[in-house]
Formats: sequence, C-alpha cells, structure tokens
Amino acid sequence: MHESTNNGSRKHWWQTGVVYQVYPRSFQDSNGDGVGDLPGILGRLDYLQGLGVDAIWISPVYPSPMDDFGYDISDYTGIHPLFGTMQDFDRLLAETHRRGLKLILDLVPNHTSDQHPWFRASRASRNHPKRDWYLWRDPAPGGGPPNNWLSEFGGSAWAWDEQTVQYYYHAYLTQQPDLNWRNPEVQAAMFDVMRFWLDKGVDGFRVDVMWHMVKDDQFRNNPVNPDYTPTMSPYQQLIPAYSADQPEVHQVVAMMRAVMDEYPERVLIGEIYLPVDRLVAYYGTGNSGAHLPFNFALISLPWDARQIARTIDQYEGALPPEGWPNWVLGNHDRPRIATRVGRDQARVAALLLLTLRGTPTMYYGDELGMQDVPIPPELVQDPWEKNVPGLGFGRDPVRTPMPWDGSTHGGFSTVTPWLPLSPDYGHTHAAAQREDPASMLSLYRSLLALRRREPALHAGSYAPVPAEGNLLAYIRQWGESRLLVVLNLGPAPALFEAPGIGTAGDVVAATHPERSGKRVGEGIALNGNEGVVVRLAPS
Ligand code: GLC
Repeated sequence: MHESTNNGSRKHWWQTGVVYQVYPRSFQDSNGDGVGDLPGILGRLDYLQGLGVDAIWISPVYPSPMDDFGYDISDYTGIHPLFGTMQDFDRLLAETHRRGLKLILDLVPNHTSDQHPWFRASRASRNHPKRDWYLWRDPAPGGGPPNNWLSEFGGSAWAWDEQTVQYYYHAYLTQQPDLNWRNPEVQAAMFDVMRFWLDKGVDGFRVDVMWHMVKDDQFRNNPVNPDYTPTMSPYQQLIPAYSADQPEVHQVVAMMRAVMDEYPERVLIGEIYLPVDRLVAYYGTGNSGAHLPFNFALISLPWDARQIARTIDQYEGALPPEGWPNWVLGNHDRPRIATRVGRDQARVAALLLLTLRGTPTMYYGDELGMQDVPIPPELVQDPWEKNVPGLGFGRDPVRTPMPWDGSTHGGFSTVTPWLPLSPDYGHTHAAAQREDPASMLSLYRSLLALRRREPALHAGSYAPVPAEGNLLAYIRQWGESRLLVVLNLGPAPALFEAPGIGTAGDVVAATHPERSGKRVGEGIALNGNEGVVVRLAPS
C-alpha cells in the first residue's frame, strides 16, 4: 500500500488551506432581484471566516447571456450587472484579503459565448483575421457535420453557420463555441485575461474543462463506446479519444502555469474528469502543470469503503514526486453528497474530506447538509436538463439558494429566488445550525478548526490501515503526532481492530458529538454511519 511523507518541505496556502466553492447566483442576493451577487458574498464573509475555510472560489461572474449560467462568457474582463460592478468586485477582493482569505476566479478558456466579440468577428466572414480563433470546418464530403463528435450537452458538437457555410465546434452548447487553442493569438489573448485579474490580486483560477482545451488536429472520428447504456449521458456513446485530453493540452497548461508563475503564490486548479492515470499527467513535470488538477474520485465513485480505500491508494501512488493531492466532495454540476449518501453518512463524508491528505474543496451548503431540491419542469433553468430531459442530468437541484435563516426566502433574498429553496429550509438553515452543537454546521466548523490546528492533517503523511467491510481507516502523521481516522461507510455497527497499530487514544473529532473527548481502547466499536479521529500515543 502506498504511504506518503511530506514532512519537512514548506507548504503553500493552497496546500494547507481549504477551498470553498460559492455559486454566486445562489449564495446571497443583496439587491432584491432573486439572484445572488457580489455584494451578497461580501456580506457573508463573516460567515465564511467563522466557518474556517481559507479560499473562496466563485463560479463565473463575467458578462454573459447566461445560456449556461455564466460559463458562456461574452467579456472576460468585466462583471455582469446581475452580480454587481467592477467596484463591487474590487471591494470583495480587498475585504477577502483583509480577512486573510484568498479569492479564486473561474476561468473558462475552452469556449466563449457566441455573443463574445471574438466569435462575432470570427463568424463574420471566412477571411476575417479572427476566423481561425475558433474551430471552423467544411461539411463532411457527403454533407453533414465534419465528424461524429458529440456535445457534452447532447447532440452533435457541430453547429452549422448559414452565412459562411461552415460548421463550428462546440463541446457544450451551440452558444458556447470552442476557441482554437492551437492559435498563438488565442493563447496570447487569454493570457492577457489572466494577467488582468492577477494584476488585480486574485489568488488563482479554477480552469473550466481543462482537458477539453486541445482537439485532434486531424479531427478524426471518435470511437464508439462499447460500454454505453441508455442510462448514461448520450455524450458517452463515443469515447472522446480525439476531442479531449490530447497530448498537446499539456503545452497549453504549461503556458498557463508560466503566466501564474509571473506572480507570487497563485494557484492554478484544473477541472478535469479523467481516470487517475490520465488525471495526474496534468501536474506536468517540474513546474509545468496545474498545481491542483481537481480529483473528483469522491464525487464519481460509488460510496463503497473498499473502492474508496483502493482509489486513495491508487491516487497517492500515482502522484508525481512534487504533486500535491486534493479532494472534492461536491460541486455545481454533480448531485450533492447528502443526497447521494444520506444526511447521516454525509457526516462521515465530511470527516473523510477534511482528514485526507491534500487540499479539500467544499461546495457551498454542504456544510449545512443541503440536499438536491427537486425542480418541477416549469421551473427548470439548466440547459443540460432542457436538452436531455428526464435522465437526471439537470443541475438545478444542486444550485438552489443557500438557506441563511428561517425568514421568508431563507434570508437569501427579499423576493422569490431564481430557483426554489429546499422545502425543509425552515429548520435546516444556517442560523438554526449555528446554535446546535450536534448540527452539520457545527461538525464542519470543528473539523475545519481541527484541520487548521493539526499539522498532521493539513501537512502530514498519510498511511492506510487495513480494514474490512464498510470500514475505512488511515493514519495521518506529523513528527510524533499521529491521528488515526476510522470511518464506517455503512449503516450497520462495525468493530474496528488494528492489532499491529493499537487504537487506544482520545477522540479528537467525531460524527457523533457524544463521542468527542472520550477515550477509546484497543478496538473501536463504531455505530452505523459513525467516524472518529483518535489521537494515538507517540509511536
Ligand atoms: C464545466 C462547468 C459546467 C459548465 C461546463 C461548460 O464543466 O463546471 O458548469 O456547464 O463546464 O462550461
């Protein structure tokens, strides 16, 4: 089994800290239009500071027609009026920094909105100087799209342009044409965008769909996926062998990293949905890759202790020598953890996320145990759900407003919000949870404080401990300090024994509050859905 040691070397903030994703539309509305905004986030910095996170990543707040809720950008260096002004942004950044927190922006370099001036120019005529900024192709010899590539959001990835009689490629919506990253002018333009925000002082970027950025230069057909079943997204009918994760993408990432390295202490995070062996290639070699290629194993895997244990091991073992691990438990695209595994087990998941080795990323509201909110058809907003209805891909349920208190609209807004609040917000809101030591919020706060206090957790080594059935166990160690984490991923009680190691010690964190501060002896009898962190005697 793979053991890691990272003792000794100096750590960066993005290694020891915890990232919290804010989905701005749903965090806090300050101007009564039913949509969250930047002044809203500013007003909730106290909450985030009190929670104990270190960095805030905000999903896109740039001008956009909102076909994909801001992931279709029409101006990379502006702020959408819905979210406020550039002054609001500057104030948010300054106030975030004043509190010792970091601010990470979402960068969407793979595609623009079809309303972006670059694309308007590109589609104006075949010989426009910006024509080659996007991926234009003639129809296939017999007519129809140039190849079989599919859009992640359903249908062909090629859209026909009447005026210039060519197709353009879009990995997502037709309103999101892909940029041509082989074109040096595109590269230079986007690097200038990065510098614009880095000059302002933002602490890093989360790069949208990093693995999509470069496509096969011969536009070869993707092979058919023999494992496709109709319950999968239609996109998965093909294996994206030629439309994503091309070898040349690493040159692009290296150039982006070089831009980041013009500034001190910035972080480059990549959104990458790939198997572990392909994922770790995005660390690059030396200083050529992303600092944190997002690791979505906990989002993607079945909630099974043996599979998760194997994957942690595999991931730890696959990391390049200088590669710093990271773990993500939720985001604005995937079902919420408390819905996937239930609210009780979500407490165990919190323990897992915040005790693993590597930077954790939390999704807003998960600290309240927020669950997916079913959205009736007439209220559906998400274009994916509209394109591929009824298959369960809609992302509205995971993007509902944050419930702050028990007032009308949960303190999120003074008017009906753009998506409904969870029907149970009346007793699950943040204000109620703050007063309750047994709440999910209290658990998160104590775990975040523990992680901050304990070098074993934010910087220490990781060593798996053999366990069976639904149990998952490991030791985090820093110098003499050893913390044993034992988690029961199932609903039935289970006995954990580790004869070679010994389990006796004090419980320093637990899903079940009554367990905290108690001593455990040799062998730990866990309830269903229970997890503990035990301080072991020095070895
Ligand atoms: C990423 C974003 C997602 C968006 C897509 C297209 O996967 O997380 O929300 O729809 O990219 O930009």
